[in-house]
Amino acid sequence: MPYAKIIGSGGYLPPRVVSNDALAADLATRQVETSDEWIVTRTGIRQRHIAEPGTRTSELAIHAARAALDDAGVAPDDIDLIIVATSTPDYVFPSTACLVQAGLGASGGAAFDVQAVCSGFVYALTTADAYIQAGRATTALVIGAEVFSSILDWSDRSTCVLFGDGAGAVVLQASNTPGIIGARLNADGSQMKVLHAAGNVAHGQVVGDPFLRMDGQAVFKLAVTHLSNSAQQVCQESGVALSDIDWMVPHQANVRIINFLGRKLGLDPSRVVVTVDQHANTSAASVPLAFDTARRDGRIQPGDLVLMQGVGGGFTWGSVLVRM
Ligand code: ACO
Repeated sequence: MPYAKIIGSGGYLPPRVVSNDALAADLATRQVETSDEWIVTRTGIRQRHIAEPGTRTSELAIHAARAALDDAGVAPDDIDLIIVATSTPDYVFPSTACLVQAGLGASGGAAFDVQAVCSGFVYALTTADAYIQAGRATTALVIGAEVFSSILDWSDRSTCVLFGDGAGAVVLQASNTPGIIGARLNADGSQMKVLHAAGNVAHGQVVGDPFLRMDGQAVFKLAVTHLSNSAQQVCQESGVALSDIDWMVPHQANVRIINFLGRKLGLDPSRVVVTVDQHANTSAASVPLAFDTARRDGRIQPGDLVLMQGVGGGFTWGSVLVRM
């Protein structure tokens, strides 16, 4: 059975950078009070990229996909599977993956979206890995992309300061050498209320609340508990020790969650990739953006063992172990 090997990656961030100070000044005009000091202390976030109004998730995804295809040296027509992880799709349908396929000029292969919020990329990566291992795909494009700014309530300071927009992508190819060597996905739907955007479209109208709502402290506790258990389980199942991990690429929600998790797992902080200070939380895009950043700056090297982890609404979480 072949392995799925990551042969390229790419990322894209919308050009508009909004610092905490700029965001605080903008929110003040709406009588919403926050500060750089509060945001940095509680989250580690210093800035985020925000897409211009009307920007679609597929546009960001296509930019990231092109960068990943260039990096891999693969032509769009060689792709026989596209999976996009997003909670902010362009349309109810078709899927954002179909729009990406058309935008890239790729043809013929399967294309669909997965919805697991901030765990979306590890869910999509695990799905593509299963397709490749089963011989049902040879070269897959896996993308996490979000215009999360479109589902934020800008009058709710407890959530709107936390997120940004962006996209990240990897190209996976069947290979006789590892590859993705382990994956574990989980969900607990009974915890849906800790993080949700509980609106829907019916009879041409948005029904319910279209904005993201969160119980921050509950999310913090669930994230740390589930991610540390998941890391230990995926390592045990894959026959590697936590100490064998060269790079951990966790979901970039909050630097305090990342630090707490790293300490709990006994990982050297210099081996944990952090981009939340620059990107904020880009939901499904956060892991591939962080992974691409660390590949391009030379930290992640061929042969390295990388642990990617996602956690988010659902409640969902998951881990993927990759030999580069
Ligand atoms: N600026 C200034 N003050 C604020 C802000 C803000 N942006 N947001 C909240 N506050 C105030 C609150 O009103 C409250 O004031 P009060 O004491 O007068 O009532 C005070 O700060 C403390 O509020 P808490 O919600 O208790 O703050 P907490 O210390 O829990 O920090 C945070 C909030 C950062 C969200 C924290 O709970 C956390 O890190 N949670 C993890 C969740 C997370 O990171 N989610 C990201 C998305 S989910 C995901 O990706 C998995």
